[in-house]
Amino acid sequence: RLDRRRCLQALALAAVPAWAQQDGSITIRLSHVVARQTPKGLALERFRDNVARASGGRIRVQVYPNSLLYGDADEMQALQLGAVDMLAPSLSKFGPVGFPEFELFDLPFLFATAQQVHRITQGALGRELLAGLSRQGLVGLGYLDNGFKHMSANRALLAPQDFIGLRMRIQASRVIAHQMRVLGAHPVVLSFGEAYRALALDVVDGTENPISNFWTQRMHEVQIDLSLTGHGWLGYAVVANQRFWRFLASTDRALVARALDEALQWGNAIAQRENDAALAALHASGATRIHDLSRAQRQRLQQALRPVHQGLVQRIGAAWLQRVQAQLG
Ligand code: LMR
Repeated sequence: RLDRRRCLQALALAAVPAWAQQDGSITIRLSHVVARQTPKGLALERFRDNVARASGGRIRVQVYPNSLLYGDADEMQALQLGAVDMLAPSLSKFGPVGFPEFELFDLPFLFATAQQVHRITQGALGRELLAGLSRQGLVGLGYLDNGFKHMSANRALLAPQDFIGLRMRIQASRVIAHQMRVLGAHPVVLSFGEAYRALALDVVDGTENPISNFWTQRMHEVQIDLSLTGHGWLGYAVVANQRFWRFLASTDRALVARALDEALQWGNAIAQRENDAALAALHASGATRIHDLSRAQRQRLQQALRPVHQGLVQRIGAAWLQRVQAQLG
């Protein structure tokens, strides 16, 4: 196994940027943590194909899925050091690296539909959030959907008390940690790539994710119950290393940006379909019991999770949330 920290240091010290090839071609290294057959996996491969087509093969996007190159614990650092050129982390993963305002997207029951999410991500507020990423040498290039998250465990999770005492794998988001604590569960931060094993070995009891991730990580093998809570949103921001982005000739930058825009629009159009297909496959497999929540059950959960909104306001102030709420009406 490679010592990643030493590799990162070596790459950061390399005199010649890794993306500049001697024959004038350009290779863009893009790392992500999910499976290929997911909204993110598919959209990034479409981006790769768009770039190849538009550049006649001169610019190549090398996509590394499934945490093959970097996982949650080191991908942001790898990007900032230039060991990889582009990433598409979930919005939840920007909080711990200096962008707590991104944790807005993790608030339980803030959004009711993908259209509401788009009002933020495709509007002025979304652009402002992306622009803020330059504080840490990142270029925010656009947003990509996955979908609404649901809760899984080896029991149905239909009411707040069902969560008491459960160890729940979460992403490194303070909002999500607070959400689990409010429900009486113990949040355990683990990389996405470690989630399946942690569930299989009973290191944790449950987790939350959209069904496309649940299904493609084969979590149905290690979780008896999936409760369709739809309590939160999982989306992504595609980001590039600023030095790499500036290295590109302006025409190439425009080409890559156009190729990405098209792929993100396409990805956002197929995300719901991918999650629906994953739910159908899960149903057909019979592997996991699927529980729907009644309206009253969902409302009880929503009520119980109110303090999570107040917690975020205490940490980052009320302004961001007020602006989001004004947009949602
Ligand atoms: C997770 O860690 O649960 C997700 O962010 C994984 C992903 O990228 O969809």
